[in-house]
Amino acid sequence: MDARADIRVGVLGCGMISADHFRAWAGCRGASVVAVCDPDRRRAEDRAAEFGIQAVYTAPEAMLAAGGLDAVDIITPRQTHATLVRLAADHGVHALCEKPLCPTYEEARALMQGVGGRVRVMVNENWRFRAYFRQIGEWIRAGRLGTPVQARLSLWRSNLIPRADGTVIALQRQPFVATEPRYLVAESLIHELDTVRSLFGEVEVVSARLARASTDVVGEDAAAILLETRAGMPLVVEGVLSAAGHAPRAPNRMEIAGTRCSVVLEGAVLRLFGAEEEELRYDEDAVRQGSFDASVQHFVDQLRAGGPHETSAEDQLRTLALVERTYELAGPARPLTRRRTAVNA
Ligand SMILES: NC(=O)c1ccc[n+]([C@@H]2O[C@H](COP(=O)([O-])OP(=O)(O)OC[C@H]3O[C@@H](n4cnc5c(N)ncnc54)[C@H](O)[C@@H]3O)[C@@H](O)[C@H]2O)c1
Repeated sequence: MDARADIRVGVLGCGMISADHFRAWAGCRGASVVAVCDPDRRRAEDRAAEFGIQAVYTAPEAMLAAGGLDAVDIITPRQTHATLVRLAADHGVHALCEKPLCPTYEEARALMQGVGGRVRVMVNENWRFRAYFRQIGEWIRAGRLGTPVQARLSLWRSNLIPRADGTVIALQRQPFVATEPRYLVAESLIHELDTVRSLFGEVEVVSARLARASTDVVGEDAAAILLETRAGMPLVVEGVLSAAGHAPRAPNRMEIAGTRCSVVLEGAVLRLFGAEEEELRYDEDAVRQGSFDASVQHFVDQLRAGGPHETSAEDQLRTLALVERTYELAGPARPLTRRRTAVNA
């Protein structure tokens, strides 16, 4: 890799979330996207046209075989990640890979054993890069909370409740989640689990419960996970996607009780209160895009500097272990409603 030239990046997968990645790459210092690939040629061509990228492929093997890449950004369904990371490693190409690195902890562990340090692999756990979580982290490290005593991170949304015309926002956005046996925790709360690790250090899952209210998905859409930090602090990560009255894509709510100050994050407003008071207001859309920008920039900066990635594949294994333990302890999701067909019959 030439130390002065931009890192040349190929993007694999031009679906829904790739829009946020392409915007991040467009503003990234020290890297340029030079090739895109999606089996759906139209999608690849549309992104290439929008972002001025010359080379368009429909097969990842062809894109890698053409050479000239330093890194790939893998933004494809979770079942394809291992094959694509291996393909990149076989070509000596570094990888930024969307979460979850693999559908299960064991597959991810086997993958990284196979890669064996030949290339750098970072996972796009962008949630922890959100500006308000970074701010909370700074407050904790500066001792402004005193001793953190208890915390809760929640994701309450209504995007699985059918609209009047029968359409379901979550499924329009990501049709594949309808048939995923592991839904809310593996797809979404993995971010929250990673975020609490970034704030409080390593945690253990003490117990977990999963349920399903929607008749349109097979996996869990409600989850409550009780965790414990190394210091013994109780911590709850929870989520529900059929919460009537809440916004379809409501942001996280977080509460932390501290012996000096407590923290509440609600509606993208962050408050520190107790021994001192501070209130910060965020634009949720800017925070969201900013987290992709920061994650992509971190990938590039650490590749260039040869430094460690905060959300390396090895780090992701620790988050995936929490996901795995959650499913193990909770067992199958309990159905809270009968399937729509049964109700209508
Ligand atoms: N970080 C986040 O906030 C976030 C948010 C949503 C999704 N995701 C993750 O991003 C990934 C993609 O999710 P999405 O919602 O964009 O899915 P999507 O289905 O909208 O897009 C996936 C794209 O990958 C393409 N594809 C499939 N196999 C391919 C292959 N072998 N090579 C190249 N392209 C291939 C598909 O044709 C499709 O266009 C998933 O792992 C998901 O969990 C992350």
